[in-house]
Amino acid sequence: MPSLIHLEDFEAAARSILPQATFEYIAGGSGDDCTLRKNRAAFGHLEIMPALPRDVSKLDTTVRLFGREHSSPILLSPVGFHQLFHPNGERETVEGANQSDITLIASCFSTVTFEEMQRASSKPLWFQLYVQNDRGFTRELLERVVAAGAEAICVTVDLPTNAARDRERRADFDIPSWMGRANLEGMSSALAHASHASVGNLYNEARAADVTWQDFTWMRSFLKVPLLVKGILRAEDAEAAKDAGCDGVIISNHGGRALDGVPASITVLPEIAERIGGSMAVLLDGGVRRGIDVFKAIACGAHAVTIGRPYIYGLSTGGASGVATIVEILRREFAMAMSLSGCASIKSLKRDFVRACHTAG
Ligand code: FNR
Repeated sequence: MPSLIHLEDFEAAARSILPQATFEYIAGGSGDDCTLRKNRAAFGHLEIMPALPRDVSKLDTTVRLFGREHSSPILLSPVGFHQLFHPNGERETVEGANQSDITLIASCFSTVTFEEMQRASSKPLWFQLYVQNDRGFTRELLERVVAAGAEAICVTVDLPTNAARDRERRADFDIPSWMGRANLEGMSSALAHASHASVGNLYNEARAADVTWQDFTWMRSFLKVPLLVKGILRAEDAEAAKDAGCDGVIISNHGGRALDGVPASITVLPEIAERIGGSMAVLLDGGVRRGIDVFKAIACGAHAVTIGRPYIYGLSTGGASGVATIVEILRREFAMAMSLSGCASIKSLKRDFVRACHTAG
């Protein structure tokens, strides 16, 4: 695939393959796509300050997260309903993750069960949870995925109700009725609160709208694996996460798909990392498309980043090998950024390697 050189080339390729409504579902943000655009633009307002010359003949891009070594500080974000993008759904994604030795955060809304995904995976998966109205069911689900081998739990908090997904609506997108949320099947109590759906479709019966830190304290009381909160943008919320027993935060605005008008994740990263980075894992997602973006995020205090849309475009375009190619390109670019800036290891990638600039790149 000689024309597929950069991650964004896969977006164009996926666009030519997928039904238009499905493409809009992936590519779109919410509202006017302001936050979606900011996620990309904000990386352009940071510039890299190389420290040269340095011996970069041996690069160390490994990071340890919760006791396990990762070959690079990159993971795959949770994305629901992979059967929209490939007939084998998450089975294909797991195969791609296996090929590229990367950790996948499995979405609560996968089209195959977490157990099946974990059996097929060569390494422990992380599981992303939307807390369910039925907390008894929520606990059962968490106990199931941990028993199946989930290494960490990420609880998403930035979408308590539906967002203004105008592009999806204009394209008349809907999840096909035959496509289930495999993890929730057989747990009818979880879907028993559909009455919420009548409020102008603002509420979703498969996501609780009343999640608070008390839920985290409660989950912490029975979970024996690391607990992360996904969707944090304020430093004081990151501190509250720590008080509630979380082990990490994923700084995220849901890829610009939740509330439009909130800041780019990279903009709020330095303050959050400064406050809690010494005692909790700090991950970031939103607009990471180049190795230099990974570099900038790590320099600003993230321990790792996760990517969403790019690997879905890879999945749509080339199945498992499409996913693996995306990861390989991003890793290669990240290694280039490190060596060309004179930074031989993640440990030495500190804040002074980037600075704000007014002329956007
Ligand atoms: C998502 N995201 C998401 N997040 C989550 O916690 N649970 C989910 O099921 C989903 N589903 C989902 C579907 C689609 C189509 C997209 C594009 C995104 C958000 C995702 O985890 C991540 O926060 C963003 O995708 C990161 O931004 P980029 O890398 O797509 O810019």
